[in-house]
Amino acid sequence: MKKKIFRPIITIDGPAASGKGTIAKSVSKDFNLFYLETGIFYRLIGKFYLVSSNKRNIKKFLNSIRKESFLITKNDKQELYNEDVAEKASFLAKSKEVRSFVLTKQLEMLMHYPKEFNGVILEGRDCGTVIVPNADIKFFLTANLEIRAKRRHQQLIVKDKKIIYDDVLMDLKVRDYNDTTRKNSPLVKAKDAIEIDCSSKDIKETIIIVKKFILSKLPYFK
Ligand code: C5P
Repeated sequence: MKKKIFRPIITIDGPAASGKGTIAKSVSKDFNLFYLETGIFYRLIGKFYLVSSNKRNIKKFLNSIRKESFLITKNDKQELYNEDVAEKASFLAKSKEVRSFVLTKQLEMLMHYPKEFNGVILEGRDCGTVIVPNADIKFFLTANLEIRAKRRHQQLIVKDKKIIYDDVLMDLKVRDYNDTTRKNSPLVKAKDAIEIDCSSKDIKETIIIVKKFILSKLPYFK
């Protein structure tokens, strides 16, 4: 019988602009892990919703999305990182139907990610609580709202000089509110997650903390 290889699952949850994407990407490269960006599923659905004629019937709308659309390439991602899409994604992520539709796609990907990877790292809002409650290592990132807004503003202004700090702050406030107060899968720390407050740490420091912790649990990754 073929021996089953243990491939660990690592989750990072946290609010918008807490740095979880950057950290997950860096960790995935260093340890050869498959990177699953769970928010991109909601963004894709948000993009389709903006132009859909089935806005009133969420089931019909979800059924109209083709399966292949979820094979998202790097190029496709770029058009999903805009504020209109993000706002719709955050709105739709409240819906039970949308969440269960997305969860099925995420679990499919988790079950079939390529064999060449040593494991998987997921980041989002409900990775350690709903998607994989039995994950091997869980992180929960936090950072003060104003600090996150400043960091996000600095990222965005490189591409668009007209971006206003107060708009970024308000957008994050609304998204935090939606994520933490929704009935279905709200953003909460899993009981067994390691919490890291990044308010006074830069991204490099946080990456070092995360990697050290992973190596303490999975020393063969060295
Ligand atoms: O992480 P990102 O900002 O790309 O996520 C887009 C939106 O998708 C978030 O505002 C959040 O409401 C939703 N989301 C979610 N659960 C996840 C990941 C993202 O509800 N696991």
